[in-house]
Amino acid sequence: MRLLTVAQIAKSFGAQQVLQDVSLTVDSGEVVHIAGGNGSGKSTLLKIVAGIIPATSGTFQLGENTHIGALIENPGFLEGESLKTNLTFLAAINHHSDPAVMAGLAQRFGLDWHSRQSMKKYSIGMREKAGIIQAVMEDQNLILLDEPTRGLDEAALTQLVNLVAELRTAGKAVIIASHDRYTPITYTANYQLEGGRLTRQSDGVPSIPS
Ligand SMILES: Nc1ncnc2c1ncn2[C@@H]1O[C@H](COP(=O)(O)OP(=O)(O)OP(=O)(O)O)[C@@H](O)[C@H]1O
Ligand SMILES: [Mg+2]
Repeated sequence: MRLLTVAQIAKSFGAQQVLQDVSLTVDSGEVVHIAGGNGSGKSTLLKIVAGIIPATSGTFQLGENTHIGALIENPGFLEGESLKTNLTFLAAINHHSDPAVMAGLAQRFGLDWHSRQSMKKYSIGMREKAGIIQAVMEDQNLILLDEPTRGLDEAALTQLVNLVAELRTAGKAVIIASHDRYTPITYTANYQLEGGRLTRQSDGVPSIPS
């Protein structure tokens, strides 16, 4: 099932062209990696797909049943509130709250669901975990993860690898953007973003560190 079609997207910020002629399709069961250096446009592309910013030209189309979950850059939280309050609030926006699912994900990533600690006191890794959780907790089927390994400890990395595999098995799709490919994750397609252009790499060939 096709979840996303990106066709010839270009994006400029003022005179700076960040993306040009970017095309991509994502089907259920896919785990897509987008590599690219700092400032290459990875977050910009994910923001366009998530509907956060508009493209300058080109189109993208979601599938009829595509429901996007996204962790892009630094997710905003209600800083004075707890994890539970934040996630419950986010889920309520879409009337998709399942406390058992949220509590289960928190436990899985080693976060205390009942902690009253406010999110402003969370470490970088804890925030990243909360960001991952909100991207999947509503049964979203197209999950965009921007640098999802940032700050994660070994146990959380293992959970992320397992989670991505489970999402894939469940017929969902994941797009991961990061400088380096995190190799324990099995990707179905590898892309490189460079000079504003997205090119597909031959699958299964590790990227050469630059
Ligand atoms: N809102 C904005 N206004 C102006 N320029 C922007 C804006 N957002 C991004 N850019 C520029 O677009 C380019 C791509 O930025 P982007 O954040 O997409 O890169 P990235 O690949 O995600 O980088 P990183 O690996 O550092 O996260 C950069 O040159 C950046 O300065
Ligand atoms: Mg980025």
